[in-house]
Amino acid sequence: MTSAVASDFSPHNRQPLPAVLDPARMPAHVALIMDGNGRWARQRGLPRVMGHREGVEALKRTLRLCSDWGIGALTAYAFSTENWSRPGEEVSFLMTLFERVLARELASLEREQVKIRFLGDLTPLPAALQQRIAEATERTAANRGIHFNVCTNYGGRSELVAAARRLAEEVAAGRLLPEQIDEQRIASQLHTAGDVDPDLLIRTSGERRLSNFLLWQLAYAELHITDVLWPDFDQDALLTALVDYQSRQRRFGGVDSPRHPGLTSATLG
Ligand code: IPE
Ligand code: IPE
Ligand code: MG
Repeated sequence: MTSAVASDFSPHNRQPLPAVLDPARMPAHVALIMDGNGRWARQRGLPRVMGHREGVEALKRTLRLCSDWGIGALTAYAFSTENWSRPGEEVSFLMTLFERVLARELASLEREQVKIRFLGDLTPLPAALQQRIAEATERTAANRGIHFNVCTNYGGRSELVAAARRLAEEVAAGRLLPEQIDEQRIASQLHTAGDVDPDLLIRTSGERRLSNFLLWQLAYAELHITDVLWPDFDQDALLTALVDYQSRQRRFGGVDSPRHPGLTSATLG
């Protein structure tokens, strides 16, 4: 296929995988705590909400790069169950922003084969936003590209409470035995059911905490914390996170490498 033909079919110029990255060791699923929008705006003497607006651009860039570089799923924290405690104007700005961005970007998400889902309790969201979410989810449900999960009114604890409640209802109704509840069954009740657990968690703006994000799913994720504020997150910042990820030895509770020397009688003394 010539490049002219390829570009006819390509919605955008795809970024090739940088040579420093090993294509065989890319994370299948990246989780993202997009933090620092307010500080980004304050540094420029702007209202906080301008940071959120700029943050949308960073998210679009990141989604596109993850898709180009063959990452299977991106799960981004957009609004936590605790974020309702922010000033009313900021909350309503965010809700309107989510709705507008979704309306504006839906065609390109469809074209680029992105499968978008919104994870969290969506019932308290404004009706207009719920409608957009339903439309976007439905229209991209059959897409074959990257899974893009937007955590909206999401909280790890409330997700686990809801899962426990549903399983308890099954037991009470006699459809499930307590001993049938295992890790797989709990995972199947979470919003992320169907996606593998994140391999890598990136948090921007230097904060070293989970802030109630994917408490179950991040059990064995590698953590990358960067001081970059979310609106400044760019290709270099993502590449740095991925290089850091590929430098890690993942052990999952085992030994540090398959070639790790076994215990010998000498070691045991
Ligand atoms: C993250 O940026 C965006 C949301 C939580 C919606 P912040 O708004 O938390 O920015 P900082 O942490 O105050 O700088
Ligand atoms: C986490 O950021 C939530 C999102 C990015 C949506 P916060 O800014 O709300 O978290 P804290 O308050 O620093 O823990
Ligand atoms: Mg913050």
